[in-house]
Amino acid sequence: MSTETLSPEHQATIEEVGNLFAESGFGTPEVFAVAPGRVNVIGEHIDYNGGLVLPAAIDRWVHVAIRRRDDALVRLVSAQAPGKVEEFLASDDLAPQGNNWSNYIKGVVTGLKKAGFEVPGFEAAVISTVPVGGGLSSSAALEAVFGKAILTLLGEEMDGLDLAKLCQKAEHDFAGVPCGLMDQAAVILCEEGKLLMLDCVDDSFQHAPFEDPDWGLLIINSCVSHELSDGGYAVRRDGCHAAAKILGVETLREIDPAKLDEALAHPDLTEDMKRYVRHAVTEIARTLETVEALGQRDYALAGELLNASHASLRDDYRVSCPELDFIAELAQAQEGVAGCRMTGGGFGGSAIALVRRDCVASLTALIESRYEAEFGIEPKIFETRPMGGTRAWKA
Ligand code: GLA
Repeated sequence: MSTETLSPEHQATIEEVGNLFAESGFGTPEVFAVAPGRVNVIGEHIDYNGGLVLPAAIDRWVHVAIRRRDDALVRLVSAQAPGKVEEFLASDDLAPQGNNWSNYIKGVVTGLKKAGFEVPGFEAAVISTVPVGGGLSSSAALEAVFGKAILTLLGEEMDGLDLAKLCQKAEHDFAGVPCGLMDQAAVILCEEGKLLMLDCVDDSFQHAPFEDPDWGLLIINSCVSHELSDGGYAVRRDGCHAAAKILGVETLREIDPAKLDEALAHPDLTEDMKRYVRHAVTEIARTLETVEALGQRDYALAGELLNASHASLRDDYRVSCPELDFIAELAQAQEGVAGCRMTGGGFGGSAIALVRRDCVASLTALIESRYEAEFGIEPKIFETRPMGGTRAWKA
């Protein structure tokens, strides 16, 4: 197990998932695995446009206890769906069924089999503290944790980037979301105290330190449902790809921001495509600038870039919503907040704020009361620092 200091809550949840496993009649777990959720600091909707993205793993986790069976039966229980056992045969030609959470596991099992592993039956218990629908990659964490847990049961290893791609395919084929690679890469490859700089032009990555005793990342979950499989995501992704084709480039990364107006004047671009291209090209530039600014601890500049990202996602890409706009605008106006933006796929979900840590408590209280007064919804707000990625160990 990694030497990363686990929070007491985290350790308690690992114990709880072992108890859930035993109480479900599965006996003693052989392997434990944990995968974090992720938050994207900046670089939104550009992983499928060849951009650079800047996520961090967060202190919210999917915990799994697992044991191998002698036959092909898979039995799954989750604290999030009490009293229900999901079953399927690992040996079957698997297909997704409805919106069932076991679809993600079926997708991962299918991917591992395709990669040449003989996946046996197993029993597993799951406890997740990653909010579902919060735009914090609960599904990528679920995929990754099972990928790693099954490999560890088999005594096998897989390169982290390959596992991320396997999980991304599970998301495409078994959840119907044509996502980029950011979420799965983040939950697997992130390192403690660091942001992941994933360059989606060639999937190369580096880790950028982000640890400052005075500055933190605050996550504000609007608790407005976030549903990416309903089409809004795919429309934009397809629009960007169609625009790239019209502009004669492989990805929108190739458009020089200095020549953006020239590109936008192309007569074959629709009005929607023009907005998508403007967002993607400016967001790619903002992300590169943010990496620089954070490297120099220039939080004022990084914050301005976050704010500009929000405006672009709201006005050009149109993936924000009134709740997230309210949170961003309110936070941006407060003392000690360098910047705030929606994060993740959008259409609800969470916002991220770069905040001076001595202001976290007052900002949290202010957003809670004002947001609830405006929308009648209680937001869920928590601070995080960058955590390490998915890992598994023998019990
Ligand atoms: C979702 C997708 C990611 C990425 C973000 C937007 O989280 O899964 O691949 O496209 O939206 O940045």
